[in-house]
Amino acid sequence: MNLKGVQLTWLGHATFRIDTPGGRTIIIDPWIMNNPACPPFEKKLKHVDVLLCTHGHGDHIGDAVEVIKEHNPQVVGMPELCGWLEKKGAKQTLIMNKGGTQKVGDIKVTMVHADHSCGIQDGDQLIYGGEACGYVVEFENGVKIYHAGDTNVFGDMAIIRELYAPEIVMLPIGDHFTMGPREAAYACNLLKPKTAIPMHFGTFPVLTGTPSDFQKLVPGVEVVTMPVDDYLYSMLPKRDEVLAEMEEYASKHSIPIVGPAVAPGLYQLALMINAKTVFELGSAIGYSTIWWARAVGKEGRVVYTDGDSKNAERARGYFERAGVADRITLHTGDALEVLSEQKEQFDIIFNDVDKEDYPRVLRLVSPRLRKGGLFITDNVLWSGRVAQKNPKQPQTKAILEFNRLLYDSGDFFTTILPIRDGVAVALKK
Ligand SMILES: C[S@@+](CC[C@H](N)C(=O)[O-])C[C@H]1O[C@@H](n2cnc3c(N)ncnc32)[C@H](O)[C@@H]1O
Repeated sequence: MNLKGVQLTWLGHATFRIDTPGGRTIIIDPWIMNNPACPPFEKKLKHVDVLLCTHGHGDHIGDAVEVIKEHNPQVVGMPELCGWLEKKGAKQTLIMNKGGTQKVGDIKVTMVHADHSCGIQDGDQLIYGGEACGYVVEFENGVKIYHAGDTNVFGDMAIIRELYAPEIVMLPIGDHFTMGPREAAYACNLLKPKTAIPMHFGTFPVLTGTPSDFQKLVPGVEVVTMPVDDYLYSMLPKRDEVLAEMEEYASKHSIPIVGPAVAPGLYQLALMINAKTVFELGSAIGYSTIWWARAVGKEGRVVYTDGDSKNAERARGYFERAGVADRITLHTGDALEVLSEQKEQFDIIFNDVDKEDYPRVLRLVSPRLRKGGLFITDNVLWSGRVAQKNPKQPQTKAILEFNRLLYDSGDFFTTILPIRDGVAVALKK
């Protein structure tokens, strides 16, 4: 969702990533790598500047320690919760309490009330984490949002409306541990938002509230749902045991594979041009490689490349179990270097390496792809960041440059398919 340059992305459950117009990334409630509702391609965080923590339950701060170790963000929360995170390695805590407002870089953060418990499970100890809270965040462009945290409805939501008037509210609707649709609808009566984003539903079977039940109760509010995505994912055919295991492994270990929404499309494209040879840049554990290998058939050949030898070792095991090992050549090392050494022309070249390298990949591809062949590239929408006005991230800039070069190239006819994180399909003329 793009709010005048503020990019809001729901990562499942109560977790949100916000990219500000100034190029900073904020995570509300960092439960990501172990969050079963987080899309696999969102699990590897590229960059984090600020964490806002509503309370200490595992389904809200379950991955905070890991994110802090990797990105060293500023951490906003109750003193007790921040104190615990400091012991776990947080170096930049910005403690506050309810009713207070502080400036955090280019945003203004107000901590507001929430009615919920807040223990932190640390091994077999339960630690006091202060009280649970919600946040009102005001961005530099004036947009105001309210994340309610975990809570029931309470009358003082009317005060939040009076004082801050957030136009967008994120409300839990799952029921059982928080409010359900009926209380969330009452919350809308008090908050009078333009838009409500339902959260904290469906992750576990007990969280039974649904966005459609909620929407029926608030006809005057725009309720943001993703019915089309849900529908598309519900239509996907079952994968075999090896692919299903790889999907689970990738999800658990934050390996950004193309996943089950994109992979069948790649397979289909290969069949459509009767591809027999595929060169893959960036293969990780070999998930997309297996789809290519099945598409090219027994007589075909797929080149796997990855810089990480552990990935290659794991991939080799999967290839054998999937019965496609004999059609795959594995290279460990720099994929661009391996491609530049190729003498033959391939039917398909698939690009999924580090994003900063995309423009360089494009320069290597054309001579190594046959006429009528396909150059296919993943992540070209970069979780919507390509629509940012002044992107600061080097990856976003590289993808923007790549997309421009690809569309402008006289060698290719290109379309970006907006499936998952965006797939560019370029036909060699
Ligand atoms: C997005 S993952 C690939 C996922 C895989 N295509 C799939 O969908 O199953 C990117 C992988 O590329 C590898 N990689 C990134 N840059 C590379 C480079 N220049 N050479 C070789 N491997 C690279 C990383 O180690 C990582 O495993």
